[in-house]
Amino acid sequence: MSSELVRFVERQDWLEPVEKTVQQAVETAVERAGPVVANALYGTWLGHPVHPVLTDIPLGAWTAAVVLDALDSCDGGKGLKRGADAAVALGLAGAVGSAITGFTDWHKIDGKQHRIGLVHGLLNTLGAGLFAASYVCRRRSAGESGRRRAVLGYAAAGIAAYLGGHLVYREKIGVDHTPKELPQDFTPVLDASELIEGELKRADVGGVPVVLLKRSDQIFALAETCSHLGGPLAEGQLEDGDCVRCPWHGSLFSMQDGSVREGPATHPQPCLEARIHEGKVEVRGG
Ligand code: FES
Repeated sequence: MSSELVRFVERQDWLEPVEKTVQQAVETAVERAGPVVANALYGTWLGHPVHPVLTDIPLGAWTAAVVLDALDSCDGGKGLKRGADAAVALGLAGAVGSAITGFTDWHKIDGKQHRIGLVHGLLNTLGAGLFAASYVCRRRSAGESGRRRAVLGYAAAGIAAYLGGHLVYREKIGVDHTPKELPQDFTPVLDASELIEGELKRADVGGVPVVLLKRSDQIFALAETCSHLGGPLAEGQLEDGDCVRCPWHGSLFSMQDGSVREGPATHPQPCLEARIHEGKVEVRGG
């Protein structure tokens, strides 16, 4: 049933123009906001995407609101009603941050995940709209209408949460794509003569792709698979001195220590140790 829902969403080709329009709008907004704001929204400063952290606020608050509403309809205590109203308002505040960071992350994914992400976002927007309507009803003392809208909003947010979980746990959006196991012994990967000053070079160390950069007597080495979605860093561009820009979605990493200078990546690239020994470039996990 659950995978049928995902397949159903993937088949909705009529959403293509909506995807393009929203993509364009988000891209323009992120560009105008500039890299500092974009990095803050991606979670580059946190070492983890911000979006999943913020989604807990509306989901938790709205769960509390629906439960308090249900208890209030059995018991009728004023405290429960006030608690439910406050939880709806808190969820709405959290939903704003969650939506902004979610759409920012979404515009840097592609393929079938892009459409699932869009529907995830639209359902959450619908859920937030219904909770906003619920809040207005509550303020106007139309408690029953407010409760009904909250239940509908919760259902929309629940389906959206399922799709969000699918994106993370099945499609691996937002997780670190770098290798976890790196060879601990120095391993020869290529002849030293193959490394050209100031040029990125791909090599393979024990089955793990790495990207190398020679700068005078130093050699920098990073895991080559981009932490964002696995892009090939050796095909990227060198910028700002010793930084490499991923060719897929433009994350910028320092070749010196693997740190993220610009998102959408939030996880640093594993840094390896490299040396020249007997005419060979040798690399091992740092
Ligand atoms: S794969 Fe997306 S920035 Fe590298």
